[in-house]
Formats: sequence, C-alpha cells, structure tokens
Amino acid sequence: MGNGDKCVSGSVDPQAIPQRTLFTGAKMPAVGLGTFGSDHVTPAQVAGAVRGAAKAGYRHFDCASVYGNESEVGAALEEIQSGGLKREELWITSKLWNDKHGEDDVIAQCRKSLADLRLAYLDLYLVHWPFPNYHAPGCDVTARSADAKPYIHANYMKTWRKMEELVDLGLVRHIGTSNMTIPKLKLLLRDARIKPAVNEMELHPHFQQPELFKFVVENGIQPIGYSPIGSPGRPERDRTPEDTSPTEDPVIVEIAQAHGVHPAVVCIKWAVQRGQTPIPFSINNYRANLAGAASDPLTAEEMSQIAGLDRNCRLIKGQVFLWKDGQSWEDLWDVNGEITPP
Ligand SMILES: NC(=O)c1ccc[n+]([C@@H]2O[C@H](COP(=O)([O-])OP(=O)(O)OC[C@H]3O[C@@H](n4cnc5c(N)ncnc54)[C@H](OP(=O)(O)O)[C@@H]3O)[C@@H](O)[C@H]2O)c1
Repeated sequence: MGNGDKCVSGSVDPQAIPQRTLFTGAKMPAVGLGTFGSDHVTPAQVAGAVRGAAKAGYRHFDCASVYGNESEVGAALEEIQSGGLKREELWITSKLWNDKHGEDDVIAQCRKSLADLRLAYLDLYLVHWPFPNYHAPGCDVTARSADAKPYIHANYMKTWRKMEELVDLGLVRHIGTSNMTIPKLKLLLRDARIKPAVNEMELHPHFQQPELFKFVVENGIQPIGYSPIGSPGRPERDRTPEDTSPTEDPVIVEIAQAHGVHPAVVCIKWAVQRGQTPIPFSINNYRANLAGAASDPLTAEEMSQIAGLDRNCRLIKGQVFLWKDGQSWEDLWDVNGEITPP
C-alpha cells in the first residue's frame, strides 16, 4: 500500500491549524504527525508519510531515537526543506531514550538525533520516560532490563541538568517531559532551572487524565497527547483484554456520522478543541486528521458528550519498565498521589 493513498488530494493551510503558545512565547502547531511505527510500519513507510504530510500541511513532527527511523525521517525532512520550507516553519521534537539518562550520554545522544534528523537544532527534546529502564524493539510484555530501577529523583535531576545544558548550547529550543505524574512533576518544577515546556502524555476520549491535564495547564506546561486515536496499531505488549477503543465508542461513532468523518477524526477534533496537541500516527489518513483540526468544529454539546466518555483506560501501560517482581503496571503511574516507593 502506498503512503497517503487514502488521503484526499489537496493540502490544508498550516495557518488554519491552531497554535499553542509555550511559556517562552514560541508557537507550536496544535497537531503533529506521530512517527512511531509500532514495530510493524517500516522506517521507509514512516518517512514517506512525513514527506506526504508536509505536503498536506503538517509542520509538526513527533520523533524519537527509539522509533528506529530518525535517519530515514531526517532524509525526508531535508528534502522538505530543499523543497522550499524553511526550518523555522517546522516544529521537530525528539526524545532521549531510557538507556541514555547517564550524565555523559544526554548531550551525545541529542547530537546523534540531530545528525540523524539532519538538523542544527530541535524545537523540543523530551525525556521519553522517567525511568532509565530499557526495552528492546519488538520485545514482549514480560521483558525487563536487567538493572531496572525505580524513579529516583536525584538521578532524574542529573539527567535534567544535562537537558538544561542542551538549551544553553543552543542545540534545543525547549525541553520537556513525557509519561510523568503529578508528584514527579512537582519535584521537577521545584528543582528545575529551566522548566518543562510540555508534558507528553496519553490522551484520548477513553483516557482523559483530567487531573494531570489541569495540573500541567495551570503550571504553564503544554499537554501533548499521544495515542490520540487509541493506538489501534499498538504493539502486542501494550494490549490487555480490558482495553477499550475510543473509535468504536457508539457516541464517537454517532458524532462521526453527523460530521461525515471517520471516528478517528472526531478524536482529533476533540483533542484540539479541548486544548491538548494530538500527535496522531498515520501513513494512510494523515490529511483527514489535519483537515479535521482545521474545519467543522464539534459543538459544545458534542464536546460535553465526549467529556463524559472517560473510562480511565490507559492503553500504553509501560509494563516493560517495572523494576521488581510482583509489581503491577499501576506502580509506574503513582496512582495514590505519591511516587511509588522503591
Ligand atoms: N511519549 C511517548 O511515550 C509516546 C507513546 C506512544 C506514542 N507516542 C507518539 O504518539 C504518536 C501517536 O500514537 P500511536 O501511534 O500510539 O497511536 P494513534 O495515533 O492513536 O493511532 C495510530 C493508528 O490509527 C490509525 N489512524 C490514524 N488516523 C486514522 C483515520 N483518520 N482513520 C482511520 N485510522 C486512522 C493509523 O492507521 P493508518 O496509518 O492506516 O492511518 C494507526 O494505525 C506515536 O506515533 C508517537 O509519535 C509517544
């Protein structure tokens, strides 16, 4: 199947896409293209989607070294810029992978992503997970890194100091967090010299995380929402029998019919209107997702219907990052409001 073959022709005016203002005053497009191939979409296909998406009007791309495709995505980004788009018109995010939290690794790893992406700077660099625990690509749910550790704030701050140095060096414009919880963010906000500009977190109609959403917004941190469609193509390790699917929710299906769009597009419209920045992955439907953010808004009634659909259903549970036997995935997420003890 060719990339973008289900995309309606024509492009969306990037000016029609809302922008989020970060605490620095910088503007970030409120929809981005995800680039995680979920272990089954090849780097070449993802790079093809990046090329097509830029033509369709995307200016924001969510990358990460662990997605294993930054060099292919980088070639696409270079082509896009040779085609006339200026670097400053693009918003490029990358992420520090868990096995590179060491003080000597952070800057080197960021330089590696920059080299792969063929960029002089990143708009945003995230600490991908707050745990230094590795998993191999394609692993199953039982995989654990041999020296897996809990969250240790002093260690996270050592990593964060290097993230701050990346800003000082001009290699990245903003730094941010991902997969954080309120208690962890409170400590970071207390101790950071440069605060996180964004927190990337799972957000879709069945997992709205209202408390964390409110906390980040109140602290001047922009929420970026990953798996905004409910990640129908996610790896096996991220599936459990209890999982639900927002695109199959009868309320979302009915709203989609009323607007003449796929339920996935309703998820994107809702996300943008609620105030987060969704980063849907797509090789076949990316134009519809962007167009959905630029036109035909959901009504206040539809927004409130979707607000009522939250099922607290986390899909990306992160079991592979647990650090000792007998734990449950909830231990990664500080569900009692305190950082889970070691
Ligand atoms: N920070 C983190 O820890 C973290 C974790 C997970 C994900 N992410 C980021 O978030 C991005 C998105 O999350 P995700 O990939 O898990 O899931 P997602 O964006 O919720 O779902 C992607 C899936 O939805 C399908 N889809 C997209 N638009 C569609 C439409 N309009 N109609 C029908 N199907 C549609 C795609 O298929 P087609 O390709 O066929 O369109 C693909 O299978 C990732 O790529 C990654 O960049 C970050």
